[in-house]
Amino acid sequence: MKMIKNMVLLAALAMAAPLAAEETAADSNAAPTAPAAPASAQEIASGVCAGCHNPDGNSVIPMNPILAGQQAEYITKQLMDFKATGTEPAKRNSPVMSSMVATLSQEDMKKLGEYYAQQKISPSQVATDADEKLIAMGKILYHGGSLIDEIPACASCHGPTGSGIPPRYPALAGQHAEYTMTQLNLFNAGDRVNDNSIMRKVLTRMNPEEKRAVSAYIATMR
Ligand code: HEC
Ligand code: HEC
Repeated sequence: MKMIKNMVLLAALAMAAPLAAEETAADSNAAPTAPAAPASAQEIASGVCAGCHNPDGNSVIPMNPILAGQQAEYITKQLMDFKATGTEPAKRNSPVMSSMVATLSQEDMKKLGEYYAQQKISPSQVATDADEKLIAMGKILYHGGSLIDEIPACASCHGPTGSGIPPRYPALAGQHAEYTMTQLNLFNAGDRVNDNSIMRKVLTRMNPEEKRAVSAYIATMR
């Protein structure tokens, strides 16, 4: 229901844009209350995306990723990957997100990336049932990997503080454990394939407990 409402709003925003542009052209003394055209990233974020990601990208729902403080280029890439173009299927499969990006232009996606990158993250406050032992195991894996299981250190690409390395390696620190775990499973099962095989290779020998541990640790990173 919420999603349908959001999509109607998105369509309304898209239709309002050219109208507003004409108005400004016809009357340069347009009232200051006239809607800006086209919709700014902030308008899209608070009108369309907020229901799931919060207006500032600090989602409080563990399934929905926190976007605040994420790298702009990474966000733009994901939005483009969610979008099917012509006969090409989407590179990243998500029924929810593919309908969200359907009417976004490339410029919108670029602006949305910049908008969320400028927001400040308030890391996951979602209570987890992870105990300290699991988090400690995740910390070792994140920073040192595992020689036995041939798992590279996450820190080597996502940085020692989890802030990532622009433009290709996303920030992970403070993300909801449930979202991170879901993504690791999607990569592992070959259901998320927009990573140039990098994450799929990293995870080939990682077992469920190791994935849980590293996801729990990432949520605690500040
Ligand atoms: C109905 C809920 C919902 C709405 C509304 C929504 N999203 Fe999402 N979004 C999700 C979910 C769920 C995922 C995780 C998809 C997956 O599992 O791969 C996601 C993933 C994303 C990602 C990938 C983040 C990452 O770390 O890889 C981005 C970027 C994103 N959304 C941006 C947006 C933007 C921009 C909008 C508005 C135009 C929006 N979302 C609207 C639910 C939503
Ligand atoms: C060799 C480099 C490399 C290493 C090592 C690596 N990653 Fe990644 N990771 C990437 C890249 C590149 C992406 C972005 C893929 C894309 O563009 O969608 C990514 C994406 C991710 C994502 C998705 C983020 C999101 O917001 O959806 C998660 C979660 C993740 N990595 C976790 C890990 C964990 C945990 C480890 C350690 C076990 C790890 N990575 C090790 C390169 C790496």
